[in-house]
Amino acid sequence: MSQNTVIRKKNALKGEITVPGDKSISHRAIMFGALAQGMTEIDGFLEGADCLSTISCFKKMGVDIQRDGSKVKVYGSGLHGLKKPSDTLDVGNSGTTTRLISGILAGQSFVSTLNGDASIQKRPMKRIMDPLRKMGADITSIHQNDCAPLRIAPASTGLHGIDYISPVASAQVKSCVLLAGLYASGKTSVTEPLLSRNHTELMLSAFGADIHSIGLKTTISPDPILHAQKILVPGDISSAAYFIAAALITENSQLLIKNVNINPTRAGILKVAEAMGGNITYENKRIISNEEVADLYVRSSALHGTNISGEIIPTLIDEIPVIAIMAAYASGKTTIADAAELKVKESDRITVVTENLKDMGCDITPTEDGMIINGGSPLHGAVISTHMDHRIAMAFAVAGLNANGETSFDDATVVDISYPHFFNTLSSL
Ligand code: S3P
Repeated sequence: MSQNTVIRKKNALKGEITVPGDKSISHRAIMFGALAQGMTEIDGFLEGADCLSTISCFKKMGVDIQRDGSKVKVYGSGLHGLKKPSDTLDVGNSGTTTRLISGILAGQSFVSTLNGDASIQKRPMKRIMDPLRKMGADITSIHQNDCAPLRIAPASTGLHGIDYISPVASAQVKSCVLLAGLYASGKTSVTEPLLSRNHTELMLSAFGADIHSIGLKTTISPDPILHAQKILVPGDISSAAYFIAAALITENSQLLIKNVNINPTRAGILKVAEAMGGNITYENKRIISNEEVADLYVRSSALHGTNISGEIIPTLIDEIPVIAIMAAYASGKTTIADAAELKVKESDRITVVTENLKDMGCDITPTEDGMIINGGSPLHGAVISTHMDHRIAMAFAVAGLNANGETSFDDATVVDISYPHFFNTLSSL
């Protein structure tokens, strides 16, 4: 994608699209396939840079992974078959790779180091180092700033199971601890304050792990034999979100988005869109690889403001930038609260969304844990500062579709992290 991508006002979005495979599920399919016995076949794998980082890390640990586009074969090494990597594992921009792989590495009998790009080197890792150390892991932040690069050495007396009460509703933290639990003595439990995405639980169970959730508590038993699976990765609702928002706020639009994962721990945006008056219907609901999937039919709608807070937040955390865009075009006030996690994503999304929306003429005020948007006034195009955050680029492409004048980006190539063909799909409509 060229760096000087320009978005202009659109009158209608019409057509039928599919979106790329789910990012969270694609990461997990590689990781669990690598730890399983036999060949895991993945179809619909997301060919975004983040998931390719996960592949490259496991290849460096001796796992044979063959990829042909979105079809991947992972020849698993078994739970105890990973090899010491010859150099630092490069996680690129991917927080999911960093945090989940750390749980796996904590249980290995070799030393490893992990590092990534400038954004990864600022993201908080204390949230995983704390519980891993409680399990006996030897994990250090090399620059002693609780961020990557990380060094992970064999646990001197092995890992032991813990009953961890997590202070954050984070699937990355939950998954990291549960994955370390595969290598611990005794059971490991994680209780989270609010339910976060549950793909690890669903997929590890399909691979044969003894993992169960009761309410907010998930418990895993150590040392299972994981069996290779065939995994069909459904479309990513976080990628569909841009097109859902675009169709809702663009007049005369009718869009069918096929094969979208609507797992309830991910589908908060659909509830919010409905609460704002959005017209979305679900067709062909089905279960694919343990995940709920549907085709979404979205029509342009006169949106109004809403309040978003509490337990819905983890189910739409990655969609808040584009929800802010919907709110900017909706009539009345939208309040987003309890979302301080936005500050520690690929960029500080409270600040970056606020600054860019202000540049487009929106009445928006940042708060400690969210933002307040007084929507409904016309917006004008601007040059968007993406802060190299893929979700900022895509959310503001949607904003640009309804703004007067042109919207461009300091660097639009950042969409490659999760949605390499985003602008092609958008122009196809
Ligand atoms: C993810 C969990 C979420 C999400 C991220 C992917 C995952 O992060 O924002 O894009 O795949 O587990 P947190 O666990 O930090 O909330």
